[in-house]
Amino acid sequence: MELCSITGLKGKVKVPGDKSISHRCVMFGSIAKGTTEVHNFLKGADCLATIRCFRTLGIEIEEKDSVVIVHGKGLHGLSAPSDILDVGNSGTTTRLLSGILTGQPFDSKLSGDESLNSRPMKRIIEPLTQMGANITSILRNGCAPLYITPGSLHGIHYESPVASAQVKSCLLLAGLYAEGDTSVTEPTLSRNHTELMLREFGADIRSTHALDSTRATASITPGGELYGQKITVPGDISSAAYFIAAGLIVPDSEILIENVGINPTRAGILKVCEDMGGDITLLNERTEGGEKIADILVRTSRLHGTTIEGDIIPTLIDEIPVIAVMAAVAEGTTVIKDAAELKVKETDRIETVTDNLKSMGCRVTPTDDGMIITGGKLKGASIHTLLDHRIAMAFSIAALVADGNTRILDSKCVDVSYPEFYDTFEQLL
Ligand code: S3P
Repeated sequence: MELCSITGLKGKVKVPGDKSISHRCVMFGSIAKGTTEVHNFLKGADCLATIRCFRTLGIEIEEKDSVVIVHGKGLHGLSAPSDILDVGNSGTTTRLLSGILTGQPFDSKLSGDESLNSRPMKRIIEPLTQMGANITSILRNGCAPLYITPGSLHGIHYESPVASAQVKSCLLLAGLYAEGDTSVTEPTLSRNHTELMLREFGADIRSTHALDSTRATASITPGGELYGQKITVPGDISSAAYFIAAGLIVPDSEILIENVGINPTRAGILKVCEDMGGDITLLNERTEGGEKIADILVRTSRLHGTTIEGDIIPTLIDEIPVIAVMAAVAEGTTVIKDAAELKVKETDRIETVTDNLKSMGCRVTPTDDGMIITGGKLKGASIHTLLDHRIAMAFSIAALVADGNTRILDSKCVDVSYPEFYDTFEQLL
C-alpha cells in the first residue's frame, strides 16, 4: 500500500464490531444451551479462527453477512476435534479456548502461525496446571503448539503477575469445569468483557475492586448452565483509534465515528487524547448488553506531549502504536512507561513502533517498558509491519501527515482485525 499526505478528512464512519467481544460471543455461545445470535460480528481473520475452531469441535455456526448464529450445545456438548485446532494469529483464541479445552473429556492440540507460536503460553500453562489441568507446550518452549488431555479440575485463587484479560478469561472459563470457585486477582483491572458477557449468559460470576489499590478480582462459581443470547457487538474502539488519531492530526478534519464501545477498561485512548489537547466529544452515550457505547466526534487539534503510565496502560495497550504516531507529531515529549506487555503482542511492539518511527525521521528512544518520543515532522518511509495488523494501520495514519510517500509493506495483514480499513478511509476523502 502506497500512501501520501492529505488534508481535510471529513464525514461519518462506522467501525466493525469489537474483536474481543466477537470472539467471546462465539466461545460462550458454543458452550451455552440454545442459540446465540450475534449482530455486527467482526469478520476479521482472528475471529474467523475462533469460528473455525468451534466448528472443528462440533458446533454448527451460520454466517450471514455480519450476523453469526451459534447453535450451542451446552457446557458438555463439544466433541473431540478431528484435526489440530488452527488458531491462526490469534492470542485470544489460543488462551481462552485452552481454558475451555482443559475441562473437556477428550484430547486436543492447538497451533497457530509463526508469530502466535512464539508468544508466551506459560502464563496460562502454569495456573491451569495448578487447577489440575493437563496442558503442555509440545516443543517444551512455553509456547504453542499446545497439547491438552483430560484432567480433573479444581478451583484456585490465582494472583496474576500481569494485567491480562486473556489469562483472567482463560482461568474463569476453566473454572466453569472445576470443582469449587475459581478467582483471579490482577494488579490492575484488564478488559472485563468476559465478566460482563458471562453474567449475561447466566454464569455466577463476580468482580470486586480493592479500595486501597488498583488490584481487581473476578470470581466464578461453577454449577449452572449458560444460555444462548442475542448480542449486538459494539464498534471496536481499537479500530476507531485510527480514525480518532487521523481526525486529530490531519489538518482541517472533522470525523464522526458512530457506535463505538467505550467500556472504561478499553477507553484509555480517549483520556490520553484529552491529555494531549485533542478535541474529542462523546455523543449519544448509552449502554447495551452491559457495554457502554457512544458516537465519537473528533476535530483537528494542536497536540502536545504527555506521560502515559500505571493503571491506564491495560486500557489502551492495543492503541499504543497509534498513540505513538500522534506523539511523533505532537509538540514536546511523550513518555510511555509500564507497558512491557508490548513486547509479547503480535510483534515486539516496542521494537516495531520505534524502528518504524525512526525510519520516518522521528526522535524516539525505546525503553524496557515503553518508549520516549519527541514530536516533530515525519518523512515518508517503507514501513516494516512484520505482519502486525496494528503496525500497518498505525503507520498508515503516520503516512497521512508525512512529507513524501510511505509504503506499508504487507498491508494485507490489516485483515486480522479490520479487513475494510482502507475502504473506510476512502469514505473520508
Ligand atoms: C484481549 C486482551 C489483550 C489484548 C488483545 C485482546 C482479549 O491481551 O491485547 O488484543 O480479547 O482478551 P492480553 O490479555 O494479553 O493483555
